[in-house]
Amino acid sequence: MSDELLRLDGVAMQYGRGETAVTALSGVDLTVSRGELVAVMGASGSGKSTLLTVAGGLTPPTSGEVIVEGHFLSQLSARQLATLRRRSLGFVFQDFNLIPSLTAVENVSLPLELDGWKTRKARRPALDALDVVELADRADRYPADLSGGQQQRVAIARAVVGGRSLILADEPTGALDSTTGEIVLKMLRGRVDAGAGGILVTHDARHAAWADRIVFLRDGRIVDQAEPASVTTLFNTASA
Ligand SMILES: Nc1ncnc2c1ncn2[C@@H]1O[C@H](COP(=O)(O)OP(=O)(O)O)[C@@H](O)[C@H]1O
Ligand SMILES: [Mg+2]
Repeated sequence: MSDELLRLDGVAMQYGRGETAVTALSGVDLTVSRGELVAVMGASGSGKSTLLTVAGGLTPPTSGEVIVEGHFLSQLSARQLATLRRRSLGFVFQDFNLIPSLTAVENVSLPLELDGWKTRKARRPALDALDVVELADRADRYPADLSGGQQQRVAIARAVVGGRSLILADEPTGALDSTTGEIVLKMLRGRVDAGAGGILVTHDARHAAWADRIVFLRDGRIVDQAEPASVTTLFNTASA
């Protein structure tokens, strides 16, 4: 099996058409391999979230190809795409997207159940995922009874449950205290070290330092790539 989990090939994304069209991405080439965590940084509006939604097959690009585990997404039927998303991709969104009427463990096991697992069988891996984010003792609470940080930890447990191979996280540490941020980053790093691949959108250079590579977006284009070491050196120098 190839080590390449994701490839974006000349990807462009335009919202709307005519005079009001917005070009959110253009000419984006990017690969993510097994064991690799790529951080994406860039100003607000630079196209970071669009990059993740296109990479995860949630929206087709206007042009270019998205290839996940060797599958050209443009060539899959809606049903094949849905299956690939469910089995291979884990999303962590900024606004958690937990289902309020389901408990923490039910939220985490939902992707497995959608994939045909029996409820009872899905509970075990869901509890294991909650354990990694230090929430096993809150498994039967509803989202409303959890803090924002705890909800985000449930969301990341749901994104990785069942061993999804590509994890796409959009500012998963955004509104969180630093302890929670660290737990989330450790989880992500741990899954990637175990053979997954990941993209981490972040504003924070200290969080990007957990990645193997940092990609900088400006106006929808990749304008620079760097090793975290060089960036954190810059960061430390700047703040010294
Ligand atoms: N659904 C949408 N419809 C129209 N324009 C959008 C939509 N989503 C994003 N955009 C525009 O695309 C550009 C990139 O947005 P986005 O990917 O959200 O950037 P970021 O996540 O880096 O802040 C921005 O100009 C934004 O206003
Ligand atoms: Mg965004």
